[in-house]
Amino acid sequence: MVASDFLVSTQLQGFPWQTEGANQNVSILGTSGSGKSFTAKVMLLREFARGARILALDPEREYCGLAKAAGGSVVDCGGGEGAPISPASDFTVFDIHALTEASDGVRRAQYLNVLGYAWDLVREGQASGRPTLLVVDEAWLLADPQTPQALGFLYRIAKRIRKYGGSLVVITQNVVVDFLAPELARFGQPVIDSASTKILMRQEAKDLEALRDLLRLTEAECDLLSGAKRGEGLLLAGNQRVRLQVRASAREAEIIAGATL
Ligand SMILES: Nc1ncnc2c1ncn2[C@@H]1O[C@H](COP(=O)(O)OP(=O)(O)OP(=O)(O)O)[C@@H](O)[C@H]1O
Ligand SMILES: [Mg+2]
Repeated sequence: MVASDFLVSTQLQGFPWQTEGANQNVSILGTSGSGKSFTAKVMLLREFARGARILALDPEREYCGLAKAAGGSVVDCGGGEGAPISPASDFTVFDIHALTEASDGVRRAQYLNVLGYAWDLVREGQASGRPTLLVVDEAWLLADPQTPQALGFLYRIAKRIRKYGGSLVVITQNVVVDFLAPELARFGQPVIDSASTKILMRQEAKDLEALRDLLRLTEAECDLLSGAKRGEGLLLAGNQRVRLQVRASAREAEIIAGATL
């Protein structure tokens, strides 16, 4: 099924498209403002409602309201005042916003620290028997040609998380510069490519060209992605490719907008 001959709009409903045996990872790729984080938020709320544990690294301080609405916790990782408190519940957001004002090196090192901590929690959570979603938004923050190990860590998580009953959700813009650059591609490409579910939203020309080659996109699919509106895109899951339109319910939209319940 390809978008060129079978265009359908579908709503994200948890992971109904996942194939048994494949990893449960998701990459969400698109230009700034295309709706990547919104898509992730809808997905998180639905997965949480279905019993999943959520761990989200949040550089934009935009997932904190979701944690509060879900009765979860927000861990402030920016204070530099010792180890973060132990998250008390099942929807945990790591607020790493303060890091965005630090120098690139400090920011990357801290992002990596927090990712390491979240990874420990994923592994510990295996005992609960519930799936864990680990969400890494603005993942380009980890991409540095001078220290490819940072992206290498994400790559190892992507490879291993299934063993612990988890899914890695990687969200990024600038795929070509930050994930497919020659120094980084050995880690960046598989992080993007090996995810069994890929959500492509609006793309700029350079990224689209690279993704076209990597994912064998048709001309019709490329046209769709270059002209996609906010919340629109293409869902690639196993052999299936369908046009995607992300729609939140009124209640989900309220939570995402930060309204109190
Ligand atoms: N499907 C949608 N329905 C309604 N509003 C949406 C939808 N997708 C995105 N928006 C809104 O559009 C704006 C941009 O979306 P979002 O923050 O998800 O973009 P992004 O791709 O994550 O951008 P960035 O790369 O800059 O983080 C937000 O205000 C968001 O609430
Ligand atoms: Mg975003």
